[in-house]
Amino acid sequence: MEQQRKKIGLIGCGTIGSRIVKRVTEADAADIGFICVRNVERVKDLFPGIPVFSDLSEVKNHDVDLVIEAATAEVVREVAMDILAKCDFLPFTMTGFADEEFLNQVKKQSEEYGNRIYIAHGAVLGLDGVADGQRVIEEVTIITTKPPKNLDVSEDTSGVIYEGPTRPACKDFARNVNIHAAFALMGIGFDKMRSVVISDPTSKKMKTEVNVRGEGLEWNINITSTPVGAVSGNYMPESAASTVLRLLGANAGITLA
Ligand SMILES: NC(=O)c1ccc[n+]([C@@H]2O[C@H](COP(=O)([O-])OP(=O)(O)OC[C@H]3O[C@@H](n4cnc5c(N)ncnc54)[C@H](O)[C@@H]3O)[C@@H](O)[C@H]2O)c1
Repeated sequence: MEQQRKKIGLIGCGTIGSRIVKRVTEADAADIGFICVRNVERVKDLFPGIPVFSDLSEVKNHDVDLVIEAATAEVVREVAMDILAKCDFLPFTMTGFADEEFLNQVKKQSEEYGNRIYIAHGAVLGLDGVADGQRVIEEVTIITTKPPKNLDVSEDTSGVIYEGPTRPACKDFARNVNIHAAFALMGIGFDKMRSVVISDPTSKKMKTEVNVRGEGLEWNINITSTPVGAVSGNYMPESAASTVLRLLGANAGITLA
């Protein structure tokens, strides 16, 4: 049975958002109802014909099936409740969900209106494993190593700059530990999960190590990528765009669950 064509809206059109618009347009996978960004003129030139505006309060006036966020944690906080009152929400900035009060409000809103919050695996692999193994997993640690400029710290900062539970890391490194937040949310929680952030001035790459352990199970995943923006690595925009296409049901035939 053919799925009904969807209408989507985007908040943020930088490294991640622009790849999503490009691939959705190329695949003719959905109608794009709006793009909300800071730099309106640049995005109007890039994607003519799509309504573009900068005022976040306008988002709730547009009727779409799904709003995708690729902007900032502050933006998620500002728009999540209004979006969930109207449609589904796919945020790529996850760190704001470490605020328990906000997370509970958002969950309640989603249940009340029957709209979903989708959590993408984003830049790292293995979120499916942690979510599906939640009941038997005991320990999750993510170690993020980035060049100092991608961590917003001074150029000569070297070594471990954070080690501890994931919840405070989400506050202190809101732009850099989205993966940690996604794993905490779908796995063992923000207080039980451990985060390590390392600044490496000798490297031009971003590295993520995911270590998972439970009774009778253990896995370790290493991901390395080259930065393509201030905070995103080379794999991230492609991963995000493919997740969006999957949600839109654009790939007929065999597809990832
Ligand atoms: N989930 C993950 O695995 C993962 C990985 C990398 C990045 N991220 C997060 O995704 C988000 C986007 O990353 P990016 O690399 O595309 O960033 P980017 O800086 O390239 O783009 C950000 C976009 O957000 C827009 N924006 C910012 N504030 C806004 C506001 N108040 N109103 C409207 N638009 C606003 C900007 O105009 C820009 O278009 C960031 O929060 C980043 O931390 C998540």
